[in-house]
Amino acid sequence: MSKKILVTGGIGYIGSHTVVELLQQNFEVFIVDNLSNSHISVLEGIEKITGKKPHFTKLDLVNKLAVEQYFTKHHDIDAVIHFAALKSVNESVAEPLKYYQNNLGSLINLLSNMISLKLNYLVFSSSCTIYGQPDRLPVNEEAPKKTPLSPYGNTKQIAEEIILDTINANDFIKAISLRYFNPIGSHPSSLIGELPLGIPNNLVPYVTQTAAGIRQQLKVYGNDYNTSDGTCIRDYINVVDLAKAHVVAVNRLLENKTKENFEVFNLGTGKGYSVLDVIKAFEKVSKKKLNYAFTERRSGDVEQVWADATKANKVLGWKAEIGLEETMLSAWNWEKKYRGI
Ligand code: NAD
Ligand code: WQD
Repeated sequence: MSKKILVTGGIGYIGSHTVVELLQQNFEVFIVDNLSNSHISVLEGIEKITGKKPHFTKLDLVNKLAVEQYFTKHHDIDAVIHFAALKSVNESVAEPLKYYQNNLGSLINLLSNMISLKLNYLVFSSSCTIYGQPDRLPVNEEAPKKTPLSPYGNTKQIAEEIILDTINANDFIKAISLRYFNPIGSHPSSLIGELPLGIPNNLVPYVTQTAAGIRQQLKVYGNDYNTSDGTCIRDYINVVDLAKAHVVAVNRLLENKTKENFEVFNLGTGKGYSVLDVIKAFEKVSKKKLNYAFTERRSGDVEQVWADATKANKVLGWKAEIGLEETMLSAWNWEKKYRGI
């Protein structure tokens, strides 16, 4: 019998790509999402790619009673992948309580039900934001967590602590926290992809929307950093590569292969690229000249960060496979298809 995986936030960007990989590996997928940052039409894309239909329930995980009722009905879930969260750094600075309530409230409700139903396995979406500007690069999982630069970043730090404390008190629960670097790109089918609401904060959707004529000009935040070309450096990881790591993590939990009850893994490529590298890769694959200009630094940006992903490579046997150019092409193809260009 196929294992039942609950995917919270499964209509969102990374969640939807992970649902595709899970369905292709014959898991039975149960999605809960309140659609606060996603559109239900994503389900059609998932179905077109896989030929399968995941179960879907519209539900706000902050609603304690609704979550209890959901788990009463679905008490035979084998593992949970918890993507659901709000993720805008800027919005979290303006509305911190909304972020603490949503991101931590939903996690607490989820864990409470896992305890009462004796559900064993959790995969959690964490972030490289918890490393801030690391003292040493590439950054590995042992690096100290830095003072969070935003309430959003703080929710990821606190969430990891909440999970660890919960596991220490309930040793039947095992969790894997996956610390993503910068996920970009889209499924090669262009049937699902990144769908930011309003003006994008993140680099790649801003690049593709500018090329598509929706934004006038990309502003590159700072060219006076202490990097080879003066722009910031990040570890941009293809979203399909990232999604596949979740399947590996779930299997590791289900097959009882974990060495500790709480394991953390960096998910990155291990390579750092500057903002200008990303623009150049985009221009090459799209054969379009991008309208961009340098402007002052964005407050809260770290100068450079990229992953030491050795632990995920060795322990999970997972490695990012897709390069920057292929990933930028997938982002562009998705934008073109979505806009009907
Ligand atoms: P996303 O906004 O596309 O997806 C999140 C989904 O969760 C959305 O569909 C949203 O509607 C849903 N959601 C939010 N709050 C909910 C609630 N209370 N109840 C039910 N559903 C709720 O974001 P994403 O980029 O796919 O990110 C997924 C996870 O990965 C998040 O936890 C995010 O913090 C983390 N993460 C993202 C990035 C990134 O750059 N995209 C990097 C590191 C970590
Ligand atoms: C990348 C680079 C910008 C937009 C954020 C969150 C982080 C994580 C991923 C979830 C930076 C530059 C950007 C633009 C630009 N999310 N840039 N012009 O800031 O690395 O990470 O998303 O956990 O927590 O902080 O990603 O895509 O915003 O920026 O020059 O219009 O592109 O300065 O150097 P970031 P990003």
